[in-house]
Amino acid sequence: MSRMTISKKVTTRSLLDMKHKGENIVALTAYDAPTAALVNEAGVDVILVGDSVANVKLGYENTLPVTPEEMLHHTKAVARGNSRALLVADMPYLSYEIDALEALRVAGRFVKEGGAEAVKLEGGIEVAPVIKELVRINVPVMGHLGLTPQAVNKLGGFKVQGRRPQEADKMLTDARILEGAGVFAIVLEAVPEELAREITKKVGVPTIGIGAGKACDGQILVVDDMLGMGAGPVPKFVKRYADLRPAMLDAIKRYTAEVRAGGFPGPDHTYTSPSKTRASQ
Ligand code: KIV
Repeated sequence: MSRMTISKKVTTRSLLDMKHKGENIVALTAYDAPTAALVNEAGVDVILVGDSVANVKLGYENTLPVTPEEMLHHTKAVARGNSRALLVADMPYLSYEIDALEALRVAGRFVKEGGAEAVKLEGGIEVAPVIKELVRINVPVMGHLGLTPQAVNKLGGFKVQGRRPQEADKMLTDARILEGAGVFAIVLEAVPEELAREITKKVGVPTIGIGAGKACDGQILVVDDMLGMGAGPVPKFVKRYADLRPAMLDAIKRYTAEVRAGGFPGPDHTYTSPSKTRASQ
């Protein structure tokens, strides 16, 4: 990728152009300013402040408990670290399913106070009316089909979606409905490659896959997963590009041992006073 391309601000329009040109869209999550700065510097096109912050950073079991306030807090931090990537913030569970006005208020705050340039929400036909409302107030919306983590209890776990013909047909119909409602892109999570390819061909907006094979118009991963920062197992679709947790644990253990043994701080990390000042104290 040329330097020119990397420095140009990414917009929802650029993502559509990339689909038309057959250029793969690169997306990653981020939850804090320094990570967002790294992701931005690397030239990633889309940063998602995922509601995965709930389990990845906040210690919750899954994404269900995270609140709009918590999402706003992380969105603000990510916005401070980002300059080029399109910044998308996840709408948390129950912020858009019950009351469209509530959805407009939450999304509006993400944009106005948080610095988000778009929001993402999960679901198909059932969320089409709220997507239309958000687009009406000029908030670009990214859809999310397949394994939608906010529906984990209904889905009975984190499982591949769309393997049965009926499920596959429904997902394709939902994708078309989302496009009709005005989304600028659709995340496809844990979907068989063949189905993701078909959806990608049949909708006019970019598809961003996570566990959906390489036929999608782009890819997204959870940044902590691909950097190897978590303690637990990761899904099959995660490729580890680094193994940071063991390096971090080793550093913390060495610090602990040195403090206990009196080896830290040594002279290199200690301030001294000029002898005169010391004498006058
Ligand atoms: O919350 C998140 O991180 C996501 C991605 C996995 C797409 O929704």
